Amino acid sequence: METADLFCHDLTSTPQPGIGKILVTGATGYIGGRLVPELLARGYKVRVLVRSPSPEYEERWPGAEIVIADALQQDTLKKALHEIHIAYYLIHSLYLGPQEFTAADIKAAANFRMAAEKKGVKRIIYLGGLGDINSPLSKHLRSRMEVAQELDSGKVLVTILRAAIIIGSGSASFEIIQHLARQLHVILSPGWERHKCQPIGIRDVIKYLVGVLEIPETSGKSFDIGGGDILTYKELIEVMARFLHKRIFFIPFPFSHIGFYAYYASLITPVPLPLVQCLFEGLKNDAICQDDSIKDFLPFDPLDYEESIKRATDRETQDRVYTRWSDAYPPAHHMALRLHELKSLPKYTASHSLITEKRPSSIFKSICNIGGKEGWFRNNWMWRLRGMVDRILLGVGTSRGRRSHSTLKTHDVLDFWRVEDIQRDKRLLLRAEMKLPGEAWLEFNLKPVGKRNRLSVIAYYDTNKLFGDIYWFIFKPFHNVIFTDLIRQIEKRS
Ligand SMILES: NC(=O)c1ccc[n+]([C@@H]2O[C@H](COP(=O)([O-])OP(=O)(O)OC[C@H]3O[C@@H](n4cnc5c(N)ncnc54)[C@H](OP(=O)(O)O)[C@@H]3O)[C@@H](O)[C@H]2O)c1
Repeated sequence: METADLFCHDLTSTPQPGIGKILVTGATGYIGGRLVPELLARGYKVRVLVRSPSPEYEERWPGAEIVIADALQQDTLKKALHEIHIAYYLIHSLYLGPQEFTAADIKAAANFRMAAEKKGVKRIIYLGGLGDINSPLSKHLRSRMEVAQELDSGKVLVTILRAAIIIGSGSASFEIIQHLARQLHVILSPGWERHKCQPIGIRDVIKYLVGVLEIPETSGKSFDIGGGDILTYKELIEVMARFLHKRIFFIPFPFSHIGFYAYYASLITPVPLPLVQCLFEGLKNDAICQDDSIKDFLPFDPLDYEESIKRATDRETQDRVYTRWSDAYPPAHHMALRLHELKSLPKYTASHSLITEKRPSSIFKSICNIGGKEGWFRNNWMWRLRGMVDRILLGVGTSRGRRSHSTLKTHDVLDFWRVEDIQRDKRLLLRAEMKLPGEAWLEFNLKPVGKRNRLSVIAYYDTNKLFGDIYWFIFKPFHNVIFTDLIRQIEKRS
């Protein structure tokens, strides 16, 4: 991360690098991924908890210690919490979907609290959700509060920060609002859009997270954090629409089934249904700060909503999105079966190649441009159609695009693929995350042949289902057309 992209340079609290080792959980997620570089830049000794190893992490957080643990398996937490002074708790399983995340979140929090107590951790810092505890809360907000209570029920002091919608590049809420405002001219309004919330910019969230670490007096206290504006959900969309030079009309509508609206929103935004549904359920609650005692400790003025939108949009335009909601969706995707872990060769393989005189670096650059806004060079309608079918079937679809247009790293999302391996000027291996009756990979590789190079694209597919076999043979003719054309286009554009 570039120094210019850090958020805490104007924070009034003083860094305390001598306080001991800091553990960051949820570092592969949206918030944790932004927090780690800030702590490292302020000189802290940081240990990062991840669920599976990857060479990408050492590159991403140089100087941080990486530990492998799963909060759902208490034994693994002992090593992670050994000699830790303060731990950030940013673990969240929202992406498991409305049916499963509550139980997973509470179990993970209970395991973490017990392990932290045993290891003599001095403080836990937790970022949760904002909502009025006395009102009937959505399942998601209630669960965030139960996690806070669980962490706070032991001997370790806890600092709780409670935030509503976070606005920043890569934030799921931001992308949902942005896409709704961009795509729609008319919104059916069932009534919940009149509830109020206090959105906060990602930079202010990170400043509060770092600030409370540096102010020991915040131990054992709970703070509400919010941005400069209190707005209705309707106003959130209207302000975004104005920012995009658009006008949106809201038409009152009596049908208020949350699942219907969430499903529709998931079809026209990059964010998949399980996440949209959990976030939409929160629209039935006000989410505004109940007190502003955080200002006694960290008296800076947070950004207002429009300024947060502007900064998030600037980051998108300048291709400086550092973390994105898709980094942690599907959950624990980095533990998925890798191509090299298959016990035998994949059942089906199809390879297409050509010989080129072009330099490997320029061909590789062209390979790494595929997907996202750039599309797949030709036959884009076929990719989009497959993506739309996937979305209808509750898959990730192609509209989730990419975090960055110009760079790719391991674990990055690329439409309905995920980068499994990337070796500069040699190989890009993508793993399919779309709904499939089997496992699929797509490999691009470059090999020298005398003074020239062979550019190949290889589709791997493994299945043990009859429908999986049928699927392969139905799509084979389309794949032949698509992949032959794709490598020609890659070569032509390099
Ligand atoms: N994002 C927002 O807009 C927002 C708004 C208000 C409050 N918050 C709060 O901020 C916190 C962090 O949110 P986020 O958006 O950064 O979440 P996120 O992107 O979904 O990341 C969740 C993180 O939790 C990790 N995790 C899940 N289960 C785990 C387990 N069993 N063991 C270890 N790690 C596990 C995930 O790791 P894997 O990669 O291994 O799955 C991932 O790193 C949450 O408490 C959330 O309520 C967020």
